Amino acid sequence: MGDSDHSSDPSVRLEELIDESVKVKRRAYCPYSKFPVGAAVLGCDGRIYTGCNVECAVYPLTMCAERNAITKAVSEGCKKFTAVVITSDLKNSIITPCGACRQIIAEFGMDAEVYMTKSDRSYTKLTLRELLPLGFGPDSLQEEKIIVNGAPIPTIQQ
Ligand code: THU
Repeated sequence: MGDSDHSSDPSVRLEELIDESVKVKRRAYCPYSKFPVGAAVLGCDGRIYTGCNVECAVYPLTMCAERNAITKAVSEGCKKFTAVVITSDLKNSIITPCGACRQIIAEFGMDAEVYMTKSDRSYTKLTLRELLPLGFGPDSLQEEKIIVNGAPIPTIQQ
């Protein structure tokens, strides 16, 4: 195994990431939408974590491919990512992450590159910062808050 096998540089691992994303897409559980999606996340640890969409008869409980891949990575101990590759069966359009997935990816860093592919493996690459401008994130919670009479504004207690 060469050094590039453990690289966290997406440009070195891109073909592999697309392959893994296409492979996991075959495991999609999408009987309702019939719209399989695969995602492969490259961790700063150089490991690739994959996920497919998993739907539910209670439709809103559906889990997107990207969120599945991210939650798998986090539960395996990896919380920093350099890239997320997304694949679908769309012939003429790239697959773009939904708003909820952008928010979840943003939770772990705005600099991750998102590769939104077409079925011919061509792609558009944008960073999370570009995909979620003015996003609310972990830093937002830490910003200075208004103080009234030396204390934060109390919430209404029932
Ligand atoms: N879906 C994803 O998994 N990722 C995306 O980027 C867009 C949409 C899934 C959710 C649902 O199972 C199906 O695609 C149709 O919305």
